[in-house]
Amino acid sequence: MKGERAYLRRFSVLLLIALAGCATKSPSLLDAKGPAERTASSIWWPMVWVATAVTVFVVVMGAYGVVRGRRIREEDIRRDVPWGDRFILIAGLGVSGAILIGFFVFSLARAATLARAQPGLEITVIGHDWWWEIRYPNGAVTANEIHIPAGQRVNISLTSVDVIHSLWVPQLGPKIDLIPGRTTHAWLKADQPGEYRGQCAEYCGLQHAHMAFFVIADPPNDFVTWMANTANPATPPSSALAMQGQNVFLSNTCIGCHAIKGTPANATLGPDLTHMATRTTLGAGTIPLNANTLAAWIRNPGQFKPGVTMPPTTLTSQELNALVTYLLSLGFPAR
Ligand code: CUA
Repeated sequence: MKGERAYLRRFSVLLLIALAGCATKSPSLLDAKGPAERTASSIWWPMVWVATAVTVFVVVMGAYGVVRGRRIREEDIRRDVPWGDRFILIAGLGVSGAILIGFFVFSLARAATLARAQPGLEITVIGHDWWWEIRYPNGAVTANEIHIPAGQRVNISLTSVDVIHSLWVPQLGPKIDLIPGRTTHAWLKADQPGEYRGQCAEYCGLQHAHMAFFVIADPPNDFVTWMANTANPATPPSSALAMQGQNVFLSNTCIGCHAIKGTPANATLGPDLTHMATRTTLGAGTIPLNANTLAAWIRNPGQFKPGVTMPPTTLTSQELNALVTYLLSLGFPAR
């Protein structure tokens, strides 16, 4: 009794912890915020209900068999269930086969409606270990934040420069792989303006878990402004400190990996930093972006993201301070 009670207590604690997980604000694929995810849910729900019905039926029949089996003798069983063999054929092969084939055809048909091409804004998303590059048709390039116009369809061409990644925004649609050397296609549409968290859904190495991103659905007019601003060159340094920071950036290894439009920096190994101060996180959703975290990140990115390609720096505190000031000035020009 004592052991059982201890077990029960431990079990309730675990259950509470598990349920507490449900209460957090992590995005749920059951909370669809766009038509692609609603189509995916329309495949999922019928499967859940039929699977539940089958499970209940099997459990009830199993329990019935156990209860009856205790009451009757072995030889009664054959006489009692003369259609036993036929029942196994019908239920085991016929009914199961019909359900499985039915769902196969049903999900293919639903998936086909999901895959149907339709016009929309065309953007490109490129997977990197471990961040996302996003390119717009007007030349705008950004990282880890996919801006889209709310209520409008956006077609995405996806590829990867290294290993297979997978783009997944649980509230907006199913997962799509990014495959090196190939282009895959997906589309996103959010009913309402808002921020929708996404995550790499294909194991891609040490920092797979730190390969998050955000889909930011802007009101359509704001989106047009955002895309135009993002395509513009960077704001020139407006203070002596920022000017010094730009020199630090251009005369150190930063320039070997990053681009800042409007300066000689045009490398594409790391995220484009032309308007980096407009973004909210560092390291693809790993830490929030502010002056302190940015300085700590540049000093040694590996302390937040072990294995990251960006090396630690040997800048002096003064140079680092100037660099951070410069990078955080890279917003949109005030209107
Ligand atoms: Cu990229 Cu997992």
